[in-house]
Amino acid sequence: LKLIITGAPASGKGTQCENLKVKYDLKHLSTGDMLREAVANGTPTGIKAKEYMDSGKLVPDTVVCGIISDSLSSCATGFLLDGFPRTSSQAETLNSLMHDNGLGSIDCVIYLDVNEESLVERVTGRRIDPETGNSYHVKFKPCTDPEVTQRLIQRSDDTEEKVKVRLQEFRANVDAVNGAYGDKVKTVDGNKSVEEVWEQIREIVDKV
Ligand code: AP5
Ligand code: ZN
Repeated sequence: LKLIITGAPASGKGTQCENLKVKYDLKHLSTGDMLREAVANGTPTGIKAKEYMDSGKLVPDTVVCGIISDSLSSCATGFLLDGFPRTSSQAETLNSLMHDNGLGSIDCVIYLDVNEESLVERVTGRRIDPETGNSYHVKFKPCTDPEVTQRLIQRSDDTEEKVKVRLQEFRANVDAVNGAYGDKVKTVDGNKSVEEVWEQIREIVDKV
């Protein structure tokens, strides 16, 4: 199974990937997570990516395609792409990478559709545990362990100002990216609760 999950910043991609990767035994490939790790480790990729990520802008295609190319080559059984492709050029690169690695084509694109007001609320309320990488939300998924709660941090791009830039980048590219996959794109109402969104996704993926 080869899936893409797409949607605006904080639409719930990472949250639903936790369910998807377990249920369908998929390798979760999040370019956002990979880039944040590269930045934290100060690798050449991280150094190139940092200023873009800090301002909420997309990292250049060549940098992102480099990291995805490395991980795809070891993914014959199935994968779940989270946050990639984000531009039509990335979609083209993905197409040729899959062809070159004998991986066939994408089976389904899950598009999480969430209204803007909810996106801002989800971004500003998100908290991360720096030790485990687990994600929480002050209102929708509060952390219940006091020890963990006191070490929670906010992602540096999770401010209202930066989410505006991230949303602009998203809006500028969403039609072109979804357009590249035609009727493989399945839109999910992402405004609902985590469980209700997961129900919709499961129904779609079970039919793929
Ligand atoms: P990336 O990390 O991919 O960020 P993003 O797309 O902005 O998405 P997020 O990770 O913020 O949100 P999510 O959809 O995973 O939501 P989550 O489940 O966490 O990318 C970061 C940056 O890296 C980009 O800005 C760019 O610079 C660069 N980059 C990455 N990929 C790139 C690419 N391909 N090309 C170029 N540049 C790239 O949920 C969010 C919050 O909401 C959480 O607190 C969660 O608990 C809560 N929540 C989730 N679902 C629900 C629900 N149903 N109801 C209530 N709350 C919910
Ligand atoms: Zn994410």
